[in-house]
Amino acid sequence: MNRLQDRIAIITGGAAGLGRAAVEKFVSEGATVSIWDLGEEQGKTLLDELNTADGQAEFRRIDVADTAAVKAAVDAVKAKFGRIDILINNAGITRDATLMKMEEEHFDQVIAVNLKGVFNCGQAVGRVMVEQGNGAIINTSSVVALYGNFGQTNYVASKAGVIGITKVWARELGRKGVRVNAVAPGFIGTDMVMAMPEKVRDMMCSRVPVGRLGLPAEIADAYLFLASDESSYINGTVLSVDGGVIS
Ligand SMILES: NC(=O)c1ccc[n+]([C@@H]2O[C@H](COP(=O)([O-])OP(=O)(O)OC[C@H]3O[C@@H](n4cnc5c(N)ncnc54)[C@H](O)[C@@H]3O)[C@@H](O)[C@H]2O)c1
Repeated sequence: MNRLQDRIAIITGGAAGLGRAAVEKFVSEGATVSIWDLGEEQGKTLLDELNTADGQAEFRRIDVADTAAVKAAVDAVKAKFGRIDILINNAGITRDATLMKMEEEHFDQVIAVNLKGVFNCGQAVGRVMVEQGNGAIINTSSVVALYGNFGQTNYVASKAGVIGITKVWARELGRKGVRVNAVAPGFIGTDMVMAMPEKVRDMMCSRVPVGRLGLPAEIADAYLFLASDESSYINGTVLSVDGGVIS
């Protein structure tokens, strides 16, 4: 299928996990993808594996928390491809600890990447999209933003903030032709989760009515839907992709 034919997309955190699944899906749907990630080796390996001889994908080593670097990279992508149609704000980190044990540094790191990173990319790309008069921004939140989670003060704060940002941008940018939505993934079987003991994974599954973990490709499908014209009247929504998880 070619639901993203000739679209130019930036996918942050695109070298691994959910972002990587999105890169693969978007390229297969005809998009040209700029992969932004800190993991240079993983990014370059992915480029090789995608095997897009015609420049349908590129990798940039970008820290989304670095405002100046993000601005420069947006300018470079715009200069190279002429436009930016899709931004997937997917890069994210965790630094878990209970409230009493959480270090200030870990609180700040998570906010810097998960929240300020979304702001940095959204503001710089948003300017390009508003000038074009169209675009789609998808911000990655999490099921824990809706229900809370033990040991994740910093992460939950950042992911709840992402929902707030999404609602504001939907109002501010909607009338300028730019749709902004969020995806809230549940328990997804990325490499990290699959490396957990089976007992822990079974416990996670017991909270999911469909009885299994989600697949990275199932999150990529949600990104694809919200980035494509099939969601042309959807703006400011939070799409839970979590198998109906029970809080
Ligand atoms: N995996 C899940 O079950 C799950 C559930 C809910 C939400 N999420 C969210 O989905 C997103 C992707 O999660 P994942 O499981 O694929 O994570 P992951 O750790 O597998 O991949 C995240 C990618 O982001 C990159 N990254 C980290 N910091 C960065 C920075 N400062 N600048 C640029 N890139 C950076 C990493 O190098 C990595 O390649 C995250 O925002 C995460 O919070 C994941």
